[in-house]
Amino acid sequence: MTKVLINGARGRMGQEAVKAINNDSELTLVGEIDYQDDLAAKINQFKPDVVVDFTAASAGFANTKIILNAGARPVIGTSGFVEDQVAQLQQLAAEKNLGGLIAPNFSVGAVLMMKFAAEAAKYLPDVEIIEAHSPQKEESPSGTGIRTAEMINAARTKAAIKTSDKELVEGARGADIGGVKLHSIRLPGVIAQQTVFFGGLSETLKIEHNSQHRESFMPGVVLACKQVVKRNELVYGLEHLMD
Ligand SMILES: NC(=O)c1ccc[n+]([C@@H]2O[C@H](COP(=O)([O-])OP(=O)(O)OC[C@H]3O[C@@H](n4cnc5c(N)ncnc54)[C@H](O)[C@@H]3O)[C@@H](O)[C@H]2O)c1
Repeated sequence: MTKVLINGARGRMGQEAVKAINNDSELTLVGEIDYQDDLAAKINQFKPDVVVDFTAASAGFANTKIILNAGARPVIGTSGFVEDQVAQLQQLAAEKNLGGLIAPNFSVGAVLMMKFAAEAAKYLPDVEIIEAHSPQKEESPSGTGIRTAEMINAARTKAAIKTSDKELVEGARGADIGGVKLHSIRLPGVIAQQTVFFGGLSETLKIEHNSQHRESFMPGVVLACKQVVKRNELVYGLEHLMD
């Protein structure tokens, strides 16, 4: 049995994770903690194999360090990590010989959407991304949007066409991630959606993913809890644990 502690357990994602871990016969929920709790002390008390973290972008990096330093494996859904932070945490996990995951998106469909987008970008280099989330999302653009743009950039073999930089209103063309435009929508009624919009010669292609409920992220969380205990490196992106 893999023992799991959930940090951010009172939040929207944390509550779903509590249900998902409780419903899995190979995982045992040993603790539910949140904002007022001392993470290091609780890991020491509950001795989990894995700590799932769904807290706040401002806390994710520090929490992951605490989890690794306490000898547990992090499964991090919290968003807001930058490249340098991921590299530092991968180094720390290697020193501790611990597996772990930072996942910009735990939904299997969203991971496939990113893979398919990278595949399409080999043939259709002209592409923009539109992501939509709930108004409660702390930061923009989404980690999934950034990761998709990075995967497209790594896969593109031909340069995209040059478009005009002239904006009559600042921000009209969206964020620029290595040449891929990324547009963020924040609206009630939305959980998480993304469209990767390709243009070619007299044709367009849209790859679209829609998470209709937060439970859509849970098969990925459960898979990650089972996989990180078998590994000794920290990976970025659920796709590294899916095959
Ligand atoms: N990777 C994914 O697939 C995925 C999907 C959805 C949301 N998210 C991310 O997960 C995080 C949580 O989202 P949510 O919608 O559940 O938010 P939420 O605000 O509903 O819940 C966050 C919870 O964490 C607690 N918290 C905040 N800071 C904390 C800290 N330093 N230590 C311990 N607990 C703390 C809060 O009290 C709250 O209970 C966000 O960063 C969000 O972007 C990731």
